[in-house]
Amino acid sequence: MRKFSQGLSTTALALTLSLGAAATAAAQTSFAFGSLSAQTQDHATIFVGESAALSGAAADLDTKTEGRLSSALKDAEFDGKFGETLHLYGMTPLTRITVIGTGDEPLTLRQIRDLGGHAAQASDNDKSLSVMIDGLNTDVDETAAQIAMGYKLGSYAFTKYKQDAKDPKRTVAFHSDDTSASETLYQDDLVYVAKGVNFARDMGTEPGKSIYPESFAQGVRDLFKGVPGVRVQVMGLSEMKRRNMGALMGVGQGSIHDPRLIVVTYMGGNRGDDPVAFVGKGITFDTGGISLKPNTGQWLMKSDLSGAAAVAGTVYAAAQRGARVNLVGVMAMAENMPAEDAIRPGDVLETMSGKTIEVMSTDAEGRLVLSDAVTYVQQEFDPSLLINIATLTGSAARALGDDYGAIITRDWDLTEHMMRIGKEVGEDVWPLPLNENHFKAIKSDIADIKSTAGSPGASIGGAVVGTFIDDDRPWVHLDIAGVDWLDGSTPTTPKGHAGWGVRFMDGVVRDLEAE
Ligand code: BES
Ligand code: ZN
Ligand code: MN
Repeated sequence: MRKFSQGLSTTALALTLSLGAAATAAAQTSFAFGSLSAQTQDHATIFVGESAALSGAAADLDTKTEGRLSSALKDAEFDGKFGETLHLYGMTPLTRITVIGTGDEPLTLRQIRDLGGHAAQASDNDKSLSVMIDGLNTDVDETAAQIAMGYKLGSYAFTKYKQDAKDPKRTVAFHSDDTSASETLYQDDLVYVAKGVNFARDMGTEPGKSIYPESFAQGVRDLFKGVPGVRVQVMGLSEMKRRNMGALMGVGQGSIHDPRLIVVTYMGGNRGDDPVAFVGKGITFDTGGISLKPNTGQWLMKSDLSGAAAVAGTVYAAAQRGARVNLVGVMAMAENMPAEDAIRPGDVLETMSGKTIEVMSTDAEGRLVLSDAVTYVQQEFDPSLLINIATLTGSAARALGDDYGAIITRDWDLTEHMMRIGKEVGEDVWPLPLNENHFKAIKSDIADIKSTAGSPGASIGGAVVGTFIDDDRPWVHLDIAGVDWLDGSTPTTPKGHAGWGVRFMDGVVRDLEAE
């Protein structure tokens, strides 16, 4: 089918140009940081705990409204449970006060960010808003910066294709008594994490018509334009052929859009230190190939590039804040299409490692593209830790739902360590097993391994990828098929493509920096 690719190149260019302009409502909002006394907007958001007494900024607003605030809270029987939200009108001289409950336990980092998300989702597109951050029961520093990050994440919306999208210019001011420290932390650091997440969300939401391997690569080039210390390389077919990447090429061969291997390096750590590698599955659309998926919900497979998008977002956040670590991000991009020259069930592919894989189902394509990508990154970079991330199996999604990414490792301490990181940053992971039986199950009659072997599906997928990981290499396999898409909102993740993994992997990077 490659015969058509010549004629497509100009269209490709036009589409990639419009990609950069993926306008989100959140992008129209400008954030400001101010002192508590500088509250000027007529819409204010305040945080109130379970004890009825108002203190600090809330008490000041009560004085300003001549007691209207406290009597309204009493009349509404507001009990301050975490996340409970109440809009109060007629708060002369203010137009509206939104009250958000904080509970009565000390607040964790993740809860502080959630408060920002609650504030965003309650904001109702106000033209301007003052978020008053005072007297929170927490050890977390620079709470205004963390709340602003939560707000940015929670206010994400993909409005590009809506004719009547409201794109108001808005200002949200975060008022606290640590104005300048918060502003610095937000502007030099946290905003880039949120932007990395939102980039991943854009990529997973954008239809497959406009996101294919080369346009995704162009999106990555655009993302990193002007970001210091980052090198972006995009490998095409001829180089893949030279390196014998038969699995990645095999998955992509049914599509008019050729596969790409995108390699992003950021060496902000000590010279000569082995980097940490992030490897993402980037299937720009997964039809299942010849093993065609049933049609219900197939549209969701436009987001089967979540792993790759999260890798880009993570390296972006680290580079922008100047993290003192060496990182390499690898994105294995292909479109999985049924076609006359697509791979067939039963075909045998030769991977870059030399090992052969019998393709039992062309719908188990993620493990195929990852096999070449992890081989490549180990041969070229010898990483000290390799994390691969992929929307790999419905099995992981059925086991863990929306709340936990599946983690598979060969080292329980590493698993526990990753669980702690996920809990802190608000992207939880939960372990699934990997043992000798899973490796035995993928023995093939005619090749070195076969690509599927029934259940347990997530562990079998892990075993296929694990076949290509050097025995002594610290390795984390993340299966995010359940968490990458939300049917309902959480405070910092609106319904839809979650951009899951940027915050988790960013947590891993910070953990390394702290060592
Ligand atoms: N991209 C899918 C997995 C997926 C399913 C992601 C649902 C998000 C939501 C993957 O390529 C796939 O098709 N996996 C198969 C593997 C099977 C053929 C062994 C699956 O899980 O059914
Ligand atoms: Zn897939
Ligand atoms: Mn598939």
